[in-house]
Amino acid sequence: MSSPTSSVIIKGIGSFTPEKILTNDELSKMVDTSDEWITTRTGIKERRIAGKGETAATMGAIASERAIKDAGLEVDDIDLVIVATITPDMPFPSTACLIQTKLGISNAVCFDIEAACSGFLYLLELGTSLLRGGKKYRNALLIGSEKISSILDWEDRTTCVLFGDGAGAAVVSLSESEEGLIDFKLGADGNKSDVLYMPGGGCSLPATLDSIEDGKHFLKMRGREVFKLAVKVMEQSAVEILEQNDLSPDQIQCVIPHQANLRIIESISSRLRIPMERFFLNLEKYGNTSAASIPIALDEAYQSGRLKRGDLILMVAFGAGLTWGATLLKWTK
Ligand code: UT7
Repeated sequence: MSSPTSSVIIKGIGSFTPEKILTNDELSKMVDTSDEWITTRTGIKERRIAGKGETAATMGAIASERAIKDAGLEVDDIDLVIVATITPDMPFPSTACLIQTKLGISNAVCFDIEAACSGFLYLLELGTSLLRGGKKYRNALLIGSEKISSILDWEDRTTCVLFGDGAGAAVVSLSESEEGLIDFKLGADGNKSDVLYMPGGGCSLPATLDSIEDGKHFLKMRGREVFKLAVKVMEQSAVEILEQNDLSPDQIQCVIPHQANLRIIESISSRLRIPMERFFLNLEKYGNTSAASIPIALDEAYQSGRLKRGDLILMVAFGAGLTWGATLLKWTK
């Protein structure tokens, strides 16, 4: 829990998803799958696919402009830009620096982090800590942006049906009067790094003709194992954060879960004894957008009037690493 003088709130929120929609029916013409299989196993009906010129930086920049506008700030009020992505525009410079330039932010510290689908929850704790520590920064722009379509094997039905592209951003700011971001419970277990990963493209396996031919630059996943681990770690982190803050599940007005699979979310709902009506869902439209999933959902929940000032919001996520996290937020907008 923070002291009142070191409180951090979400001051602005925004998101962007590409125009191009890829439906389950269209996918079933590309690989051996069906709308029925994808819908019953995942809840996903369609996903957005970035166009040629669209990247993590371009999508993240649009989401950021929207978040800065929503915060009622100007670009030069931003002094910290952090991006969570597993699909950066390039290995370096950081996507945060590219977004800084696109937006014309003149004076900010910019860098990327990589915590896969848990990335935005990692950003919220990191941004909050940097704002609180020493009061060097006032307004941090936190962005989850992904072009997962660029790392999918479009011949592998076990992965290509699950993911989509998009970006979400939040401006988090110091507040003397209100407490927005209440608590964080993050975790990781590198022993499980082989259930979801991309083998090629890093320094251990730079791109070669062989690595490309062997499909080493595509996302690899053991879906069933990820499913079981996801349910376990998300439940655990949610229970712990509620206990640490003396809260019971019925005090949570809205849960924003990582939008990976409806069945995973239903398991979490029954284990936490929080009814599904209190979970915000948009995975049927976007699939799993990795680090962009939670900020897109938070933005859509806010824009649709689902979040009321004073509501307690629980966000839960898991992703490659493994990484996971739960975050408690009081909605202050
Ligand atoms: O952010 C983290 C990202 N990762 C995840 O969230 C993944 C978590 N895991 C899952 O969501 C689920 O495990 C999947 C949706 C990936 C798979 O669902 P499942 O119920 O665990 O299916 P399965 O892997 O056990 O496969 C069942 C069958 C298999 O056929 P056989 O061996 O029973 O004949 C698969 O080959 O379904 C087959 N299958 C498909 N069939 C039609 C796998 N993918 C497809 C497909 N269309 N797209």
